[in-house]
Amino acid sequence: MYKKIEVNKNARNAILSGHPWIFSGKVESDLKGYENGEPVYIFCEKKFLGTGFVSPKNSIAVRMISRSKVLIDKDFFIQKFLQLQKFKKKFLALNTNMYRLVFSEADFIPGLIVDVYNKYIVIQTNSAGVIKKREQIVSALVKVFNPLAIIDRTTPDTYNLEHSPEYRITDKNRVLYGKYPGEKLQVMSENGILFYVDLLYGHKTGFYLDQRENRELVGRFSFQNRVLNLCSYSGGFTLYAIANGAKETVSVDISKTALDLIDENMELNRFQKTKNKNIAADIFDFVSNENLSNYDIIVVDPPSFAKHVSEIENGLKAYKFINSTILKKAKSESIIFTSSCTSVVNEMMFKEVIEKAIRDSKRDVKVLKRTFLPLDHSSLLNFKETEYLKSFFLFVL
Ligand SMILES: C[S@@+](CC[C@H](N)C(=O)[O-])C[C@H]1O[C@@H](n2cnc3c(N)ncnc32)[C@H](O)[C@@H]1O
Repeated sequence: MYKKIEVNKNARNAILSGHPWIFSGKVESDLKGYENGEPVYIFCEKKFLGTGFVSPKNSIAVRMISRSKVLIDKDFFIQKFLQLQKFKKKFLALNTNMYRLVFSEADFIPGLIVDVYNKYIVIQTNSAGVIKKREQIVSALVKVFNPLAIIDRTTPDTYNLEHSPEYRITDKNRVLYGKYPGEKLQVMSENGILFYVDLLYGHKTGFYLDQRENRELVGRFSFQNRVLNLCSYSGGFTLYAIANGAKETVSVDISKTALDLIDENMELNRFQKTKNKNIAADIFDFVSNENLSNYDIIVVDPPSFAKHVSEIENGLKAYKFINSTILKKAKSESIIFTSSCTSVVNEMMFKEVIEKAIRDSKRDVKVLKRTFLPLDHSSLLNFKETEYLKSFFLFVL
């Protein structure tokens, strides 16, 4: 049994419409009476609303877990993981062994990310509630998956933001369970294409799982085409293009380590190495100086240019500059795939940026398709934070 917390009618209406957060101003109980991260039963005018985690010192004071009265123990996590595994696997090809099992609020475990990489599991605990329940989460994952290792990739500043410094994970104790082998790179498969993935130090939890369906689409267009992959990381789009018969690819990233991984991935798949050329460059310089009319397809998947609301204006300028430069210089009948991966720049803002870039380019540009997150990264309609990835497939006439 957990403590009760009373919230006001505004909070109740938000919860009933599917929003999973209650801000501190909407809590009527004295927040000082709660321990950071403890589960609570939520009430409004004495009527039960659901179960959540409380963060008494944060502006997001309560995060919803369930509309029912549940007990958050190892068994709760086991049931959740079994249910999620069953339905997420339905979305994946049999030759894909890396996917998102738990996507935080969107899967009703607020703050928890669980990515499955074949026999390995990588987690991030991004709220006081799941930080506190880490041991139960790990032992439930062991029970359901029997993995070789469970790795924690929670970023250090999360513990300060969540007022949970006593649970801090450092570089030295990231492996929470099992043993991560000496070789830091593990081989994973996505739709039968093999990738070396660095689960300890690679970007995100090791791989950009969220671009899987867009990579598949780019692959479909690539036959006999010249493909430019901007901000390539370990070559996700590059390898799909080559696997689908691209004439040649050019991969550009600021990180030399990421580009070296492309070479290794080419070898791993026994693709002809000369088909791809790597260029270590800053995207802003590259699009300004390169002759972009050499390419039939241009992929542009930059890092998030705005992580905080205070960065939105500059972020929008960056998206606008890159996209309008590309659209001005792209050859006729080329396809541009362009993405934005931050919830701070929402769907409408990104659409406006692309509209402005098209206007600036003075070209006729058709939208072939708009895409969002893949099926294993399910989102909530009333919770925009889970809809961070949005992309356009454009056709330049
Ligand atoms: C969203 S990731 C790309 C993921 C990739 N498309 C995939 O499918 O795996 C963004 C990449 O941009 C690179 N990057 C960051 N800043 C950059 C810059 N100024 N110029 C070029 N690349 C940059 C990062 O190293 C990272 O690999």
